[in-house]
Amino acid sequence: MKSGIHIKLNIFIFLLLVFGKISGQTITIPIETKDNALVLQTDKENRLWIVYFGNKLVNASDYLGTSQQYHFPEGNSGIYNNAYTPAGTWNLSEPALQVTHADGNPSTELKYMSFQKKNEAENITITIIKLVDPVYKLNVDLYYKTWNNENVIEQWTEITNNEKSDVVLNKYASANLFFSNKNFYLTSFQGEYLKEMQPSEEKLGQGIKSNESKLGTRAMLLGTPNFILSFDGPAKENTGHVILGQLAWSGNYKLDFEITSNKTLRFIAGINPYESAYTLSAGRTFKTPSLIYTVSNNGTGQASRQLQSWARKYRVLNGEGERLTLLNNWEATYFDFDEPKLSALFKNAKSLGVDMFLLDDGWFGNKYPRNNDDAGLGDWQENVKKLPHGIGYLVKEAKTAGVKFGIWIEPEMVNPKSELYEKHLDWVIRQPERPEKYYRNQLVLDLSNPEVQDFVFGIVDDLFTKNPELAFIKWDCNAVIYNAYSEYLNKNKIPQTHLYVDYVKGLYSVLQRIRAKYPTVSMMLCSGGGGRADYELLKYFTEFWPSDDTEPIERIFLQWNYSYFFPSITTDCHVTDWGKQPVKFRVDVASMGKLGFDIVANKLSKDDLNFCQDAIKNYDSFKDIVWHGTQYRLASPYENPVASIAYVAEDKSKAIMFTYLHSTRFMENATERPIQLNGLDAAKKYKIKEINLYPGTVSSINSNQVYSGDFLMKVGINPDVNGKRTSVVLEINELK
Ligand code: DGJ
Repeated sequence: MKSGIHIKLNIFIFLLLVFGKISGQTITIPIETKDNALVLQTDKENRLWIVYFGNKLVNASDYLGTSQQYHFPEGNSGIYNNAYTPAGTWNLSEPALQVTHADGNPSTELKYMSFQKKNEAENITITIIKLVDPVYKLNVDLYYKTWNNENVIEQWTEITNNEKSDVVLNKYASANLFFSNKNFYLTSFQGEYLKEMQPSEEKLGQGIKSNESKLGTRAMLLGTPNFILSFDGPAKENTGHVILGQLAWSGNYKLDFEITSNKTLRFIAGINPYESAYTLSAGRTFKTPSLIYTVSNNGTGQASRQLQSWARKYRVLNGEGERLTLLNNWEATYFDFDEPKLSALFKNAKSLGVDMFLLDDGWFGNKYPRNNDDAGLGDWQENVKKLPHGIGYLVKEAKTAGVKFGIWIEPEMVNPKSELYEKHLDWVIRQPERPEKYYRNQLVLDLSNPEVQDFVFGIVDDLFTKNPELAFIKWDCNAVIYNAYSEYLNKNKIPQTHLYVDYVKGLYSVLQRIRAKYPTVSMMLCSGGGGRADYELLKYFTEFWPSDDTEPIERIFLQWNYSYFFPSITTDCHVTDWGKQPVKFRVDVASMGKLGFDIVANKLSKDDLNFCQDAIKNYDSFKDIVWHGTQYRLASPYENPVASIAYVAEDKSKAIMFTYLHSTRFMENATERPIQLNGLDAAKKYKIKEINLYPGTVSSINSNQVYSGDFLMKVGINPDVNGKRTSVVLEINELK
């Protein structure tokens, strides 16, 4: 009965909108999710405007009147809220689209043509709005894909050239948004090698704040296309209206946040137009990358949970599946290993209790052996001195030891000291007339060239064809693009300004081929630390490496920051020898993501080894909740000497809470107050047990006490973190 009314209402709204179109009146197009609405509307001249972005209204027909309630002064204000702002005509502010038409004219106007709404699947709706230039045959289709329950919107644009010959796209944003609120706070995530994802929040003032990258491949080394926008005050964890999102593009990006003269905000996001004018031949369509964002009225906590849940269900490869715990040899051996050393490490992996051994850099190259980071990249044949019996032998040896085997590659790169460089200089991105400039002694291969794409695909294909039991690939990418120039584009008379874009498209095309042939095998996205983690690449990868900085206190902060955007199942966290924290602290921190080890296990003391073995068993018992449960950031390391995060099972019957003392400056205050849990069932009864106890220590938590969920969420629990207990893991179990 209830759903019948709902259907009638929808038909009514649909008729209203269609009627509006037939009679030449205002067209109103709401893009709704469970709690929010983005509303577009046409004016008398058939231009399309954003007239509302906020809480969803009960009656969609009410959106018709929203625009009348704003009385911004005349002048520039009339151009600020365009749904996709063209350049060269009436608009004098930052454009979303800038085109040179076939006849050389640089002006574009966009008028509304039609829209279409489709239910793609349960929970997923797609709205396509068609715009057209009334003078030139240029079509622009705006796509809005929504996931209702997760309040997630994915927006992209398709530009079609129906003119007689080439047009040049000088700027082609993915999305152009407008917010009529008044005070805007932007959190950007910037960094450096070993300092990835450092947040910085600022109140936006009039003018444009740009976040961008021009690095080419490792575009996120210095900054990221992730953002948090908070309205009316700095972003908070559990209150306030926030938008949290990312441009899903693995190359140069540009996010422009423009506070207008009316104190409203325009937001334009897309591929960085820097050196990227794109020639679109007649009849062709250019599809931009997606801007993906979620809206929350309950702070960043809810926003992250929405995005994490969306990512697991709909985006990340095998997001709801399983992952492999592992022992990696990078920090244990660096380039210095051979078969006997590796065989010993396989046994270490087994005795620790992880699922897999991961062989890192250094296994290839013969004329130029990869014994250091200055040679061998590009020559993907086993080094006969180190590995005389080849990879196949290692896969078998690992299997005999009882673990799976995975391998590191960096297929987009080449060292000048390599046979590949000697044979295929034309495959290398470099300016032929200028001295080469290296990043980590290497150069980038030209993935705009289909032959190079075949070569990169071939590296992976060859490994899997020869070793069908290979369980994992770590795909690294350590260099940025210097001296951007492609011999392939030159030969084919394609403008050099296609290189940055076609490189990334080439990479996606290789990954599509890999996934068509090897759909499920786990692959880790790595980029000399965390220079690459985005929702376009995570369609093909199961996880990513957040940083080479594995010092556990820094990791608390790093993992905290990544968790705004990514679910724990995607975040690889390895226990290493970095820093001064005891092994328990290191393992506890790494257990908040996908756990791995990069240590010399046979050098661990007996107690440390026993602790690790038990902790891995514990991890196996709760990993389902860390990977697939709901994450609650309980106490921020930025605001407290302690940091606390909990993961709650979907049915609320179990939770795991991690708490750390990360700063000893205020150590005496660390146990003063309890920490309130979140996401439990208020009516359920729970018992709390401390796990991951170091051998010989006794917990100070009373495991017999019974608490209501209500108590734990309102009063909280005191994990008793102090100088002697700097890291505490609590298992919260429903009393049945
Ligand atoms: C950079 C990565 O971040 C490290 O984990 C390691 O794989 C090295 N590259 C190997 O060269």
